[in-house]
Amino acid sequence: MQPDGKGTSESAARQGASVEFRHVTKRFGAEAAGGKGTPGAVNDLSLTVPPGEICVLVGPSGCGKTTSLKMVNRLVEPTEGQVLIDGQDISTVRATVLRRRIGYVIQQIGLFPHQTIGENVATVPRLLGWPKERIRSRVDELLTLIGLDPGGVRDRYPSQLSGGERQRVGVARAMAAEPPVMLMDEPFGAVDPIVRGRLQNEFLRLHQELGTTVLLVTHDIDEAIKMGDRVAIMQQGGYLAQYAPPAELLANPANDFVARFVGSDRGLKRLALMTVAEVDLREAATARVGEPVRSALARAAEAAYILLLDMDGRPEGWVNARRLRPEGTLDSEAADPSSPIFTPATTLRDALSMLLASAVQTGVVVDESGRYVGALTLEVVGAALRGATTPPPEALTIGSPSEPDDGHAAR
Ligand SMILES: Nc1ncnc2c1ncn2[C@@H]1O[C@H](COP(=O)(O)OP(=O)(O)O)[C@@H](O)[C@H]1O
Ligand SMILES: [Mg+2]
Repeated sequence: MQPDGKGTSESAARQGASVEFRHVTKRFGAEAAGGKGTPGAVNDLSLTVPPGEICVLVGPSGCGKTTSLKMVNRLVEPTEGQVLIDGQDISTVRATVLRRRIGYVIQQIGLFPHQTIGENVATVPRLLGWPKERIRSRVDELLTLIGLDPGGVRDRYPSQLSGGERQRVGVARAMAAEPPVMLMDEPFGAVDPIVRGRLQNEFLRLHQELGTTVLLVTHDIDEAIKMGDRVAIMQQGGYLAQYAPPAELLANPANDFVARFVGSDRGLKRLALMTVAEVDLREAATARVGEPVRSALARAAEAAYILLLDMDGRPEGWVNARRLRPEGTLDSEAADPSSPIFTPATTLRDALSMLLASAVQTGVVVDESGRYVGALTLEVVGAALRGATTPPPEALTIGSPSEPDDGHAAR
């Protein structure tokens, strides 16, 4: 009943299942037309979702996303080809049995209106004949997991909840029997953008705990990039245009359709997937508070700016080397503290916008305890985007913020 961590709940013990589409084609009306039917809603779809991953099917309206999803729980039968779960052809499994092992969340049809929230969430466990006590504790566990207070909502009806709350309950209901596979058709589509963002984050957190395999349908490429371990981009006529991890789609779109679909700002989208931890940082020239200026200058060599650190290695700010009198010692008065500060978890997209908004175009990267670990420049961001591992040599001596009046203006 606790909102427990990993290991203690039985949910953590379950593993997701692999899902494979093997040359799957669906033509509606094919039975009547003797196998022909017209035209294909899904055409020769082959892809494999590894256990525990989130696969997002994305594409314009009518490209066959929902049809593909429904072939996984046999709401739609393929005209040709097979769908396999953990290697087993699902056409050999009775549909009702299959569906108890597959969670299904859709946007339009919500909860059963005449059942309480608790009864809604308990639907599949009841079908599976779980003992009352186990159902009860599972329901409370799930409501807690999705961020609702079980005591507050368990006995209420769907109409008494907000749209976002209802959508959460829909997810909880789908997860109740710890299905190895979850199908989600535009699950966050009906709520406003802020609630949507929150639900997405909650679901990602939940997924990390549960390890279920998820197939999620959306028409929103940003949602696909955010949620997917892999993204299948589908194209009119039910064709799979590309199936790859988000970073790969953005870096190497397979064709013009994909390039247009992911958008002309795909470079920026890629930056949102990369963090400061993944790039090669520069070394700034550094000095300690209280250190003689002369020794700091000697170590800084030709660097125009020196990063002043306190006794614990935390940055105080940049000092302009040329404005220092060699006979004194360094004190924090001389330091300009206006540099952007990043942590290893900062996305490159955030880092870039902070660098662009700052007069000082070299950001300081600090660890969890705020200690200096490296410097981040626009060149580093650019190199990461180009996939370059070694920065151009002339950029290595930077370690200096720009200042409009001394010829070190920003590039
Ligand atoms: N039950 C059905 N009978 C006939 N045609 C259908 C049926 N369901 C879907 N289609 C057609 O199949 C194509 C793919 O639909 P769908 O899978 O719902 O697309 P998406 O979910 O990507 O918007 C569309 O052209 C749609 O009109
Ligand atoms: Mg659809």
